Amino acid sequence: MRSRSLSEPRRKPARDEGPVIEQVRMVSTGTEATMTAVRLARGVTGRSLVVKFAGHYHGHSDGLLADAGSGLATLALPASAGVPAEIAAQTLVLPYNDRTAVETAFASYGPRIAAVIVEAAAANMGVIAPEPGFNAFLAATAHRNGALLIVDEVLTGFRVSPAGWLGLEPAAADIVTFGKVIGGGMPLAGLGGRREVMEQLAPTGPVYQAGTLSGNPVAVAAGLATLQAADAAVYARVDEVSAAIAAATSDALSAAGVEHVVSRAGSLFSIQFLPSRAHDYAGVQRQEAFRYGPFFHAMLEAGVSLPPSAYEAWFVSAAHDDAAVSRVLEALPAAARAAAAAAPSA
Ligand SMILES: Cc1ncc(COP(=O)(O)O)c(C=O)c1O
Repeated sequence: MRSRSLSEPRRKPARDEGPVIEQVRMVSTGTEATMTAVRLARGVTGRSLVVKFAGHYHGHSDGLLADAGSGLATLALPASAGVPAEIAAQTLVLPYNDRTAVETAFASYGPRIAAVIVEAAAANMGVIAPEPGFNAFLAATAHRNGALLIVDEVLTGFRVSPAGWLGLEPAAADIVTFGKVIGGGMPLAGLGGRREVMEQLAPTGPVYQAGTLSGNPVAVAAGLATLQAADAAVYARVDEVSAAIAAATSDALSAAGVEHVVSRAGSLFSIQFLPSRAHDYAGVQRQEAFRYGPFFHAMLEAGVSLPPSAYEAWFVSAAHDDAAVSRVLEALPAAARAAAAAAPSA
């Protein structure tokens, strides 16, 4: 075991301080990465409660399925069957971007909270960026109370910048989780943090984690090749194309008279069928989501496959060349008219 206890008071993290990743553990899926991160936080703090935010998805481990956005939101399911109440009770679900709710949770349960887990920028209830400074506030609040901050970059990592969302807006995360882009399409994910935290994982520490395919060489090679190919020009192109598609989508919807906002976090974006931007799950659920189906199908008929839910983010990749982008732009006006003509189902 290490010499210094993690519950010892430590230097107050600066507002612009990013995470320190001295050691990583490779796993195969984002679900494993966040599940392991939570177990690690519990192991090092000796506490059991975890704070998450409504509409944030961290994979399908039991305790993290409460109010988990995207797939569950599309199907209007509050949580999954098969999760014992005793396990769900270990997760406190708070409204996103709500500092008062976080402070109240720590005031009530502080000594029992092992970790706060947050999507670096929420992208499983559509895209909702954190209010400026929110992630740094979470780090400061967690640390003041002897808890850890887990920032889930499974979706944003290596995508919105080479250093993920935390590269755009640093916050002193203790554990950062990665998936998706890190594997370049192969099953690879990971978690990382300060050595003193990561060393608590087996075999050096008492927190168990293992996996037959963890860090398998084929997936790691594919991931490395992808990250090496993703140079500055790739990120600049993705930013440029996503801005162009977001703007054209908004123009088309405005021309068709559809009330909406385009909600962005770096190159990620989604449409909220709302008069003004929602900042949390309850807010985004008030949108006229019935407009998305006709919009989606009109785009599909024109050969453009969008995410199949209003609660999923639109991703641009380096594979979207000029011809693909033109096709998207040309399809938008008719799709916007289909959204305008949509009516709520009875
Ligand atoms: C933010 C976030 N965390 C975790 C996961 C789970 O990753 P996986 O599907 O690889 O288990 C996802 C998947 O969409 C995600 O978006």
